[in-house]
Amino acid sequence: MQFSLKNKFIAITGCGNGIGRAASIMLAKQGATVIGIDKDKKSINKLKLKLKKNLIVKHIDCTNYEEVSSKLSNVLKIDGLVNCAGIVPQGNIIDCDYEEWEHSINTNLSSVFIMTKYFIPTFLKQKKGSIVNISSVASSIKGVPRRFAYSVTKAGIIGLTKSIAVDFAKKGIRCNAICPGTVDTPTWRKRVLNSKNPKQSRKDFNSRQIIGRVGKPEEISDLVAFLLSDRSSFVTGSIYNIDGGMSL
Ligand SMILES: NC(=O)c1ccc[n+]([C@@H]2O[C@H](COP(=O)([O-])OP(=O)(O)OC[C@H]3O[C@@H](n4cnc5c(N)ncnc54)[C@H](O)[C@@H]3O)[C@@H](O)[C@H]2O)c1
Repeated sequence: MQFSLKNKFIAITGCGNGIGRAASIMLAKQGATVIGIDKDKKSINKLKLKLKKNLIVKHIDCTNYEEVSSKLSNVLKIDGLVNCAGIVPQGNIIDCDYEEWEHSINTNLSSVFIMTKYFIPTFLKQKKGSIVNISSVASSIKGVPRRFAYSVTKAGIIGLTKSIAVDFAKKGIRCNAICPGTVDTPTWRKRVLNSKNPKQSRKDFNSRQIIGRVGKPEEISDLVAFLLSDRSSFVTGSIYNIDGGMSL
């Protein structure tokens, strides 16, 4: 699919692995210059070897506002922002201590606030910008067992998305969210391997999607590119499930 992101500068958090990495490769393929943000130096450097001049490496912890504002201060033109960095804390409310709660909120939700707040003034100056937030089916869409803190943060992202969409619709800024089902990424594989019975765990994860398998990171990328492109100019405040039917 062609979305023409030629000459566009797109910032993406969590670009080093999984969904963020696949989206970065797709955005570069569509002609964008990707401003790749990740706290994992090794994986972002690996992506640089692949994308070469199409990737500007930003080794940043996106939960830290000072770090974000100092290391991104030389980014003067920005057309889009993808908030993808995240973690998957597991367990119910009894398993979740305050430290884990705070870490989950910081990583999955405050990072989206920080990045969006940082780039909104530039989008306003340009009278244009598109924000794509990666939420999850485990959110306000569906209750998923043992995803307490995670689901809270991902529901928060949906609220943040709609709020930004209504506040800035008339200023040329669009904001949408994507809610994936289970996707085969490095952290998901680790989760399977660390489970008591990896074979059963993989089977269980596959059957959560009614199409009977988990998704590939590349299956999320087309929608990211569409929402960043001018082809989606009438789309804002929308929440898209890409979940193999998990939410049904
Ligand atoms: N994989 C799934 O099944 C799935 C399903 C639904 C939603 N999601 C969401 O998609 C996003 C990506 O998931 P993934 O499975 O590709 O994850 P992943 O762990 O494979 O990659 C996440 C990347 O984010 C980076 N990161 C984490 N915290 C960061 C921080 N504070 N600052 C900068 N970078 C940081 C990590 O270094 C890593 O490179 C997450 O928000 C996740 O919640 C994933």
